[in-house]
Amino acid sequence: MSQFPNLRMRRRRYDERVRQLVRETRLSVSDFVLPLFIKHGEGVRCPIASMPGHCQWSLDQLPQEIDAITARGIDKVLLFGIPEHKDERGSHSLSDTGIIQQAIRTIKEVAPQLLIISDVCFCEYTSHGHCGVLNNTDGTGDVDNDATIELLGQQAVSLAKAGTNIIAPSANMDGMVQAIRNALDDASFENTPIMSYAVKYASAFYGPFRDAAEGAPQFGCRKTYQMDVANGNEALLEATLDVKEGADMFIVKPAHTYLDIIHQVKQHFPSMPLGAYHVSGEYAMIKAAAEKGWLDEKTAMLEALTAIKRAGADFIITYAAKEVAESLR
Ligand code: PBG
Repeated sequence: MSQFPNLRMRRRRYDERVRQLVRETRLSVSDFVLPLFIKHGEGVRCPIASMPGHCQWSLDQLPQEIDAITARGIDKVLLFGIPEHKDERGSHSLSDTGIIQQAIRTIKEVAPQLLIISDVCFCEYTSHGHCGVLNNTDGTGDVDNDATIELLGQQAVSLAKAGTNIIAPSANMDGMVQAIRNALDDASFENTPIMSYAVKYASAFYGPFRDAAEGAPQFGCRKTYQMDVANGNEALLEATLDVKEGADMFIVKPAHTYLDIIHQVKQHFPSMPLGAYHVSGEYAMIKAAAEKGWLDEKTAMLEALTAIKRAGADFIITYAAKEVAESLR
């Protein structure tokens, strides 16, 4: 009698029910956080060309979109704001009547069950488009780290006052998490968690986002504060620092092109909840290829998100949350 082959791997693959039974990674709607772009003005529902399916919403249009989101079972959103006026210090973001502060109140009214995560950064609010204040104003300035973290603390407190559930700082400044933690604690928001973008690369895949948030740097680039895309070990040092500074959970960003980093960070910090940000360019490239008929959008999107979870992400920030939620039903 022939001994070969004893184990036929294909036996597990013939029947979809068996495939399901032995599946190792399962996506669920509760894994997803959906980013939203809120813009000043009225009647604004402006489609973002490089991110099909996404719009900039004004406050009066927001409730309709919130209904569409909650109807699909999505219960977590991440907010980005586009203010009417930008200045060198991004002062709009510190105001209690700032665009995101108002959006938080609007969402709390129409859907109090929604978890609101607020991005904390300055690039959408500064006239120069950098993620903090500059140390000079002649157009060659560098972001002043220590002045910026102080302001990030103020922005976080203002967002917490407005009712955000979680603070998500993305400016990549040194000491940012600790400065925000101290500011929140001093203002009696010791129970507001910090979801830190601990590992954030200077990636070309943020391109479409910069259109959506109208926050591209007007000169220079972000390589003096965001990580070099070639560095993997450095991610562990960044993550270690954020744990020490008091981060409650991490984000690795981008996600689809950084699966090795997600895996390493999860292996080294198994007890830290880990989010992965499937960024605008990673979303747009699947959309664009699908538009050309080069791949099947739904299966490609599910495959990308499954890979991100398989690599070790506990939750995924993705622009595809709405459509994927639909197909997971
Ligand atoms: C703000 C911020 C950016 C993204 C999220 N928060 C842009 C950047 O850092 O340049 C990018 C997200 C995406 O591309 O989807 N600092």
